[in-house]
Amino acid sequence: MGLVTNPNEEGTDPTFFEVVLAQRACRQFDGRPVDDALVARCISAATHAPSAENLQPWVFVVVGDDAQRSAIGDLTRRLWREAGRPMSEGRLTPQLLDDVDAGAETGVASAPVLVVVCGDSSVAHRSTLASSIYPATQNLLLAANALGLGSAMTTLATIDEATLASILGTPDHIRPMAVIPLGWPARPLGPPRRRPLSEVAHRDRFGTSWT
Ligand SMILES: Cc1cc2nc3c(=O)[nH]c(=O)nc-3n(C[C@H](O)[C@H](O)[C@H](O)COP(=O)(O)O)c2cc1C
Repeated sequence: MGLVTNPNEEGTDPTFFEVVLAQRACRQFDGRPVDDALVARCISAATHAPSAENLQPWVFVVVGDDAQRSAIGDLTRRLWREAGRPMSEGRLTPQLLDDVDAGAETGVASAPVLVVVCGDSSVAHRSTLASSIYPATQNLLLAANALGLGSAMTTLATIDEATLASILGTPDHIRPMAVIPLGWPARPLGPPRRRPLSEVAHRDRFGTSWT
């Protein structure tokens, strides 16, 4: 069961817009393993993202080992309880707070694969490291969705970058910047909620709606 519920009638790959318009954060997984070949397709898509000066400063640590996933899960839970939850309460809608809470407590780390997307600061300048890493991360999320996998952009565990780096064994110049769970969604997520173009797009100058 994927997020893109109807790839299309011929059973071929879903179209770009079917994938993009169905993208949601998935934080609960059904426990089935994910084949390396699918992970490879997601990472390959990530490496086709743009990057400043085409420096491609990305590094992917693919975590499937139980003890490693559990260590990342413990870190995520601690940071959620100490910092994330107090900051999110009263800011997130009750539904989103519940979803993020369940994800941070156990859901995200229960995914069979956690792809930690890192930036190599010895390759890219500090000013373009993040802006080069996050397009790759988005490609990875979209590729996962196209394959029917659940995934989510998460950064909670990177708040304590030093502990995450020590779990992963990354040297100082390899900076963990996102933890992406990959797994089969436990349940359909429903349609995403997004602000309409009339609220977000302006024509020529700010204040004149584009639509
Ligand atoms: C920079 C960034 C950081 C995020 N960090 C987390 C996170 O730590 N934990 C989490 O559960 N979701 C995280 N998210 C996912 C957002 O909550 C999600 O994209 C947003 O609520 C939209 O929800 P939807 O994808 O279900 O439509 C993050 C998203 C972004 C862009």
